[in-house]
Amino acid sequence: MNISVIGSGHVGLVTGACFADLGHQVLMVDHDRKKIAALKAGKMPFYEPGLEELVHRGVEEDRLRFTTSTAEGVRHGTIIFLCVGTPARPNGEADLTAVEEVVRDVAQAVREYRLIVEKSTVPVQTGEWIARICRGSVRRGVACDVASNPEFLREGQGLQDFLHPDRIVLGVESKRAKELLLALYKPLNAPAVVTDVKSAELIKHASNSFLAMKISFINSVAQICERVGADVMQVAEGMGLDRRIGRAFLDAGVGYGGYCFGKDVAAFTQIAEKLGIDFQLLKATARVNAEQRQRLVKRVEEALWNLNRKTIAVLGLSFKPDTDDLRDAPSIDIIRSLRQEGAVIRAFDPQAMAQAKALLPGVTFCKSAYEAVRGADCLILMTEWNEFKELEFARIKKLMRQPLVVDGRNLYQPKTLQQLGFRYIGVGRGEPWDQR
Ligand code: UDX
Repeated sequence: MNISVIGSGHVGLVTGACFADLGHQVLMVDHDRKKIAALKAGKMPFYEPGLEELVHRGVEEDRLRFTTSTAEGVRHGTIIFLCVGTPARPNGEADLTAVEEVVRDVAQAVREYRLIVEKSTVPVQTGEWIARICRGSVRRGVACDVASNPEFLREGQGLQDFLHPDRIVLGVESKRAKELLLALYKPLNAPAVVTDVKSAELIKHASNSFLAMKISFINSVAQICERVGADVMQVAEGMGLDRRIGRAFLDAGVGYGGYCFGKDVAAFTQIAEKLGIDFQLLKATARVNAEQRQRLVKRVEEALWNLNRKTIAVLGLSFKPDTDDLRDAPSIDIIRSLRQEGAVIRAFDPQAMAQAKALLPGVTFCKSAYEAVRGADCLILMTEWNEFKELEFARIKKLMRQPLVVDGRNLYQPKTLQQLGFRYIGVGRGEPWDQR
């Protein structure tokens, strides 16, 4: 099938490369000339495991091409995926300027049947607006459908999530659109949920907000655990075995970050507000998440008596492992707060340091975890990269000034570190019965 994907960000590029790998003819469209030139030269605009190989294969086997021309995209693809950015406005509302501009360009270039599919996360009723623009701009007598096919790709696992999804959501308003999309996804053999366009739009915002809410819920439970000396990991385990609850997204820590959760929770809150609904659960979700970052700063301060001139090693900067993405990363807020209190920061991240340098002036960026902990009064584990799982803590203890580990992701066994002579502070892991 011929497909065009407009927007070569994380969602667009993973979608395009995966569809090409399934045998479709894919044309990627982006108005950013530099990005398209780089992609043509085989360079990826961001890090995503396995993506580079997939893009190279698609290009070599002539199923994946790149262009800056929207009109060429419209000529090529019977199905046109919209994967342009929908960033947050200052009030949290989604900014749909890019979507509107692209839809106008697309609608004007349509000469024969086209199916326009929203893939970026958009507020409910965006599909109606797109359809309205198409009705006004597409030539008379030419049919055009609008559909919603939200993506659920996680950064760092985008390929896996695309090729083995839990479900495919298809919001359609015509039989033709439904059949085209079902045929497109057939090779994945995944359960498809076919709905109207508005319900599909809502499934995306509701899903992300629900996951964010689970994280804030367990982070609140973690606070109770700390007060009474219980272990949030055991609580999550016990809760998670109930199939109605599920264990996923019940990991307490420094809170969620990344491009999606913060933005989607804010946008969904705004959508509700506009409709006259006060979605209090979402407001609390965002508030708990912001407080979680500051709580970690407070705990470090309490453990060190004060922060002024204390050296703190931060391991991990990206908002989660296997990505170099720093958007809304808890590390940025936390490091800035620590520095405001006079702390000296030595940081290491396997992928995100180049980007972090611009965001965090005054931080010393180190070549390894071991270099970062040299002379440190405290080690904060911020992101649970694999390479931090098996650090040589005996060596680390010798390198640090004070043996203090603040584990923002509950990655380590408190007992193991305590036996090595470290003071260990996790999230929601109260001191055991006999040590209180
Ligand atoms: C998310 C959604 O999972 C995905 O379906 C959607 O399409 C895009 O947004 P992503 O932002 O890539 O994906 O990351 P995800 O793996 O969901 O993690 C988001 C944040 O929550 C990370 O900062 C992670 O560390 C944090 N998290 C996740 C927790 O703090 N606890 C958990 O139990 C799970």
